[in-house]
Amino acid sequence: MDLSTGYMGLALRNPLVASPSPLSHTLDGIRRLADGGVSAIVMFSLFEEQLRERAERTYRLVDEPAESFPEALGYFPSVVDEDVGPRGYLDLLERAVSAVDIPVIASLNGITPESWTGYARAMQDAGAAAIELNIYYFPADPEISGPDVEQRHVDVFQRVKAAVTVPVAVKLKPYFSSPGAIALRLDEAGADGLVLFNRFLYPDIDLERLAVRPMVDLSSPADARVPRTWIALLRGKVRASLAATIGVEVPADLARYLLAGADVVMTTSALLRHGPRYATELLDGLSSWMRHKGFQTVDELRGKLSAPDITDHAAYERRLRHSDASRQRRRLRPLVNESAARDDDLEPAKQRRESSVDLRPVALVAKSRGPRHASTVAGMPAFRPVPATGAPHPQAAQPRQRQ
Ligand SMILES: Cc1cc2nc3c(=O)[nH]c(=O)nc-3n(C[C@H](O)[C@H](O)[C@H](O)COP(=O)(O)O)c2cc1C
Repeated sequence: MDLSTGYMGLALRNPLVASPSPLSHTLDGIRRLADGGVSAIVMFSLFEEQLRERAERTYRLVDEPAESFPEALGYFPSVVDEDVGPRGYLDLLERAVSAVDIPVIASLNGITPESWTGYARAMQDAGAAAIELNIYYFPADPEISGPDVEQRHVDVFQRVKAAVTVPVAVKLKPYFSSPGAIALRLDEAGADGLVLFNRFLYPDIDLERLAVRPMVDLSSPADARVPRTWIALLRGKVRASLAATIGVEVPADLARYLLAGADVVMTTSALLRHGPRYATELLDGLSSWMRHKGFQTVDELRGKLSAPDITDHAAYERRLRHSDASRQRRRLRPLVNESAARDDDLEPAKQRRESSVDLRPVALVAKSRGPRHASTVAGMPAFRPVPATGAPHPQAAQPRQRQ
């Protein structure tokens, strides 16, 4: 079975790529990812604020950043690991590149277009096979318009693209009024890859401590439908390679993304849940399915179920929605009845807790408090998902007594 594929001009032995996660925080973790069977590794992101803070502290730069992060963003935590500042990141990248025999892609998390082309170059010099831009820009200020947000993405991309010769991918969020339009703009601007989509780290509210706490839910296969639809719609319409990310849990998810038209499929949640060796299981499952269906190569199946090249994409979406709508309705009816019969809704909450990761022990630091040293950041074991502990406080779970 030939699983080889191409991504942004990189020849990969299979279409499964490890997306950024704490699994790449250490050399040991990176080796384990490579041994586990993925064909490339995108390292965790180096955050621009982190770059800036470090640079200011180390070199006493006085320039104010062109953009300041809105205060409200303190609400949205970022993964900040003091032990892996720019120097540490570049050292790790360099060591990773020589330690594994698969491409290592560096990930840069930028907000301002101006401040970090130098780091992109440094990543290239450290041996990064490509650079993925994780433009984790959250327009918390309601005065910022949609076109402004889009322009920032294009500006950031163009700056970095002009600064390096390695391929540059942009990891997009799905929250554009027209995700296809920004994808086309970036493609026209020369993006080598589009990664669909990022997941934002939305915080939760701790009712016991009356505090906001960082929280990441690992994804489930249902979350793959949004990126898969956009991959299917963009296949054949952009020159850029398409990377699918979100919601791979079983081999079928991998196959579905490829059928939709992904050049590569990335995964974080599955590797966090089951460990880096799970990559081999996913790939073996893909191979068996391909054998069963008579496909010899990934190229034969890629894009087989992408959106037809019609101008009326809305019609395609409607067709997807309605093609088996009655079957869906029959499937949903018992669930609807069952849930109506239930007098409490704690069950879904319980299920959710089982796939949640409480990132407090892994050094998620709220921006409002500023980046800190995180002594807990070490190797992969510390980052393995643990079931979130915070069961609702008994009182919080009780219905309120009527006076
Ligand atoms: C704990 C954790 C840390 C992450 N760190 C990063 C990061 O540094 N940079 C990035 O671009 N994405 C990061 N992501 C997002 C993942 O790379 C991935 O895009 C997302 O989890 C969706 O894929 P999945 O459904 O396979 O988990 C992180 C995700 C998790 C769960």
